[in-house]
Amino acid sequence: MDKMVINGGKVLRGEARTSGAKNAALPILFSTLLAAGKHRFTNVPRLMDIDSTSALLESLGCKITRDGNNLDIEVGELTSIEAHYDLVRKMRASILCLGPVLTRYGQAIVSLPGGCAIGTRPIDLHLDGMKAFGAEIELKEGYVRASAKKLKGCTFLFETATVGGTENLMMAATLAEGTTVLENAAKEPEIVDLAEYLNKMGAKITGQGTSIITIEGVKALKPAEHRIMPDRIEAGTLLIAGAITGGDVKVTDCRPKDLEALILKMKESGFTIETGDDWVRVLPAKSWKSVDVTTAPHPLFPTDLQAQFMALMAVAEGTSVITETIFENRFMHVQELVRLGAEIIPKTRVAVVRGHKNGLTAAPVMATDLRASASLVLAGLVAKGETVVNRIYHLDRGYENLEAKLVALGADVRRAE
Ligand code: UD1
Repeated sequence: MDKMVINGGKVLRGEARTSGAKNAALPILFSTLLAAGKHRFTNVPRLMDIDSTSALLESLGCKITRDGNNLDIEVGELTSIEAHYDLVRKMRASILCLGPVLTRYGQAIVSLPGGCAIGTRPIDLHLDGMKAFGAEIELKEGYVRASAKKLKGCTFLFETATVGGTENLMMAATLAEGTTVLENAAKEPEIVDLAEYLNKMGAKITGQGTSIITIEGVKALKPAEHRIMPDRIEAGTLLIAGAITGGDVKVTDCRPKDLEALILKMKESGFTIETGDDWVRVLPAKSWKSVDVTTAPHPLFPTDLQAQFMALMAVAEGTSVITETIFENRFMHVQELVRLGAEIIPKTRVAVVRGHKNGLTAAPVMATDLRASASLVLAGLVAKGETVVNRIYHLDRGYENLEAKLVALGADVRRAE
């Protein structure tokens, strides 16, 4: 079923539970490659990207057992050190197996991820980092071939703060000889979750969540158990779903601290937001005003909520300037929002959104990537008539049961062929 049909105009009310974070689960599942034995996880979201990760881990010799949101990984001696193109091309995050396999086995072969809808997304900093550990890197026939007798701890300064790069190097450093210092490291909460799991396995990491992370290499790691942190992007999407319909939605099982930048912007826009230890609630609003947003590394406004926030601004009062500083081609949703009647002028990295309160009308649209598909669903919730979002499978890469959660809140949403 690759379409979602949305009858807009329903006001959402009630509670929605946040699932486990995809972007925390992926690196944590790859980190199991560092230690033989049985790793146990709970709160793992059921998503296509988790299936892709599982398939890649299985291709390297791991055994995976899944029971709902519990997932066990039995890691033995790996039967392969090669991440094949067919598996890597489905999911860019597959590059995260490079650090663990290289540091444990002294060699790794990983397909280059290739292009992606939201920009070129290079991996040069992952590779420069591995070289700084003393690895030899060769790019041949579409593959990265990395080798080193033993990685050596180093000080590495990231030219750009990269989430995946920080995760890959942090994992590699756990078994490297000596101490590694990562400077200008990314500070995203998912990195903290990964560091917590690595430390449970016996790693010696400090400074996670700040721009300087120190890792003291250890001889070996052992498997552990972990509950995956809540998905802040899903929580933010559900909060915007409540807001855009003028509804009253409480998002539970999340961490309001991780959503600070979004909450700040929503308050500035005129929404009343309440928070508790593990919940956040948006109260009904008849109208809200346009505010400017610039995406930037955590703790600033996340690029992964830019498309969803743009849908909210498309029905705000006034004009909003949305600036994307992380990815150069992340306005693919603009033309589709325009099909729904939004007035948005995209420039390079900047989009000017002229809000039209009650201005959206249903149309067939096409999802181009994960967060773009969420933005179209949000716009569909307020567009008059029946909006059909094609290629909705993009949504399944990163949202667990979004339509069921929306339906429980009162939305009229269904899948169709
Ligand atoms: C992760 C998230 C993604 C999110 C992004 C930014 C996962 C699985 N994905 O992606 O949802 O949108 O962080 O918050 O966690 N860069 C380089 N060279 C590199 C690596 C990155 O120049 O070697 C640049 C990128 O082009 C981009 C910036 O660094 O401009 C940030 O990208 P990065 O943080 O690496 O994104 P991902 O880890 O791929």
